This record gives sequence, C-alpha cells and structure tokens, in this order.
Amino acid sequence: MEAELTEEQKNEIERVLEKYSKQKGALIPILQETQSSVGYLSEDALSLIANACGRTLSQVYGVATFYKQFRLQPIGKHLVRICHGTACHVGGAEDIDASVCGHLGLCEEGGTTNDGEFTVEKVVCVGACSLAPIMIVDGVAHGRLDAEKARNVIKKYQKE
Ligand code: FES
Repeated sequence: MEAELTEEQKNEIERVLEKYSKQKGALIPILQETQSSVGYLSEDALSLIANACGRTLSQVYGVATFYKQFRLQPIGKHLVRICHGTACHVGGAEDIDASVCGHLGLCEEGGTTNDGEFTVEKVVCVGACSLAPIMIVDGVAHGRLDAEKARNVIKKYQKE
C-alpha cells in the first residue's frame, strides 16, 4: 500500500502550488517540481494538485502517466541514473544498463529493486558528454564507464 504524505511533503506541495497559483496551464512544471521535492508523484500528491488546478484526478493522472519523466512509485534508497544521450549511447550506455540492471536483478528498463535499495532510470544527456558514458548515483557522477566499472560502482553502494 502507498504511504500517506507526511506533513513536510504536504507543505512542499503547497509551496509549489502557491508558486504557480497565478499561472494558467502550469500542470507540467507543478508535477516536475513536486517530483523533485518529494521524490515521486503519489496518488495523494496528484489529488492535491488536481484540486488546486481545478482538474479531476484522472486528468492529472493521465498527464503524469503520459510523460516518462514522471515517477508514480517511490524511489529506492539509491537513485541510479544511466545517461542515454548520444555520446553515452555511442560509448556503450546499453552495456552499462545491462550490467547494472542484471547485477541488481532488474529488467533493462530499470525500476526499483524488491528490497527498495536501488532505483535505476534511463535519462537523457546530463551535460557531461566528455565523461561519457556516465551514470549518476545519488547525485554523484561516475564517468568513462564500461560494464564492469559500472557494476563495481554499484557494488560499492551495496556495501554502505
Ligand atoms: S550524452 Fe551522456 S552526458 Fe551527454
């Protein structure tokens, strides 16, 4: 079952809604900012947003599921973002995906491990192409990877 929003998360969402309250058609930035401040878009979060924007929950849910950038499930303790921009793709991002996801027992689309430790996502260019291929773990960039190096990075986080 989905966890309810904490007071702190509710306040964060209220802050985002307040910021965009005068702006019509700001649903996408509201969803983006909510996700970045509370981690993912729970049903409770989507309800609050729907109410504030004068839309139904199913309309807002429809938008959130349409765009791949939005997460509707909680993220794991460690967030692993594997870059699939052009430079990283050419440098072997697919191999890194296969190696990391295989090591964690996830399908190559990524997702969250059953123990809630890791979430793996594919992202577009993160702006560090000279370090390609790259993955970002908990906001820290690990560059010039190959399949084995990427797996070793993950192993270090597993020991923590
Ligand atoms: S393509 Fe991966 S950092 Fe630019």
